[in-house]
Amino acid sequence: MQRRTFTALGLAVAAFAASPPALAQSTPFKIGLILPMTGQQATTGRQIEAAARLYMAQNGDTVNGRKIELILKDDTSLPDTTRRLAQELVVNDKVDVLAGFGITPSALATAPIATQSKTPEVVMAAATSSITEASPYIVRTSFTLPQVSVALADWAPKNGIKKVVSLVSDYGPGIDAEKFFKDRLTFNGGQVTESLRVPLRNPDFAPFLQKVRDLKPDALFVFVPSGAGAAVMKQFLERGMDKAGIKLIATGDVTDDDQLNDMGDGALGVVTSHHYSAAHPSAANKKFVEAFSKANKGLRPNFMAVGGYDGMRVIYEALKKTGGKGGGDALLAAMKGQIFESPRGPVFIDAQTRDIVQNVYLRKVEKKDGQLYNVEFDVIKDVKDPGKTK
Ligand code: PHB
Repeated sequence: MQRRTFTALGLAVAAFAASPPALAQSTPFKIGLILPMTGQQATTGRQIEAAARLYMAQNGDTVNGRKIELILKDDTSLPDTTRRLAQELVVNDKVDVLAGFGITPSALATAPIATQSKTPEVVMAAATSSITEASPYIVRTSFTLPQVSVALADWAPKNGIKKVVSLVSDYGPGIDAEKFFKDRLTFNGGQVTESLRVPLRNPDFAPFLQKVRDLKPDALFVFVPSGAGAAVMKQFLERGMDKAGIKLIATGDVTDDDQLNDMGDGALGVVTSHHYSAAHPSAANKKFVEAFSKANKGLRPNFMAVGGYDGMRVIYEALKKTGGKGGGDALLAAMKGQIFESPRGPVFIDAQTRDIVQNVYLRKVEKKDGQLYNVEFDVIKDVKDPGKTK
């Protein structure tokens, strides 16, 4: 009797002694992924979710023995909803990392929550320069509009484009694109004769394009967020702007790989600058595009997918570096300075700014195997965000 009690107690003690590390290892590592899965930005959500799931399928759903749990929330791209979801994920679900953020207002709305709770916020899509300055816990794997706009403003005047009208969505990334394109073009001896801004929600491009037609610049420079490019292209062509001798130049958000192939041959020849093309000629990208397409009924990945895929990588590698332990500050420290080959090319998370340093490519829409692609023809290597104030 006595011996049995002793044995039972011994077992209980042994189990207790073994439990803290066993518990730590068995606690899932939670990633709260907040994306616009419905509404105007839904393609961004679909692309990033697919890329995150592909990363997990390829790299396993455990890191150092800890199960990775992805908790997906749809913010419908309304920043008040993003903030509420982020709060719930931190307080109720006790997520280890917040990630996603389809548009700038959503990323900014979450910044105070990241700071207060010391939770890393991995921005996979939003691209206004100032976002990383809104919280020391923000790390970005997408890009910035200044980063990609400047390259086009260097290319344009060397290619006969001196007088430009700009047309951008009227919020953070559009205002960044407008300013950095204009300043650089002016520096290069060109001129932005008119800067037009169109509302982000339900934009009607027609009256703006009519105005551009009347102004007759050498080119129209456009930024609209992923998902809106096809509408711009359609109306640009319908109004015969190209036939009137006005060239369309843009950031790669407009000739978005998610929509490009459906834009028709009118898109051929459009020159853009951006950090990712599905046609990027590297072995890593070929593998990525094939696997993504196979897992998603032939869907072509766009730059949003790459931001999501690389964001997952940054989170996985950070968790590995902490030996599976995690912790907001330790994860953040392990995210800073990461360097790796992305499907887009070599990238680096700048430890000072927590922003991504990457190549920017000049591309032209061309037909390859009967499909429209952004074909890269020049590269500016290791571009830091020129928009940082410090
Ligand atoms: C943004 O809101 O920051 C944003 C969204 C879509 C883009 C670029 C920037 O394509």
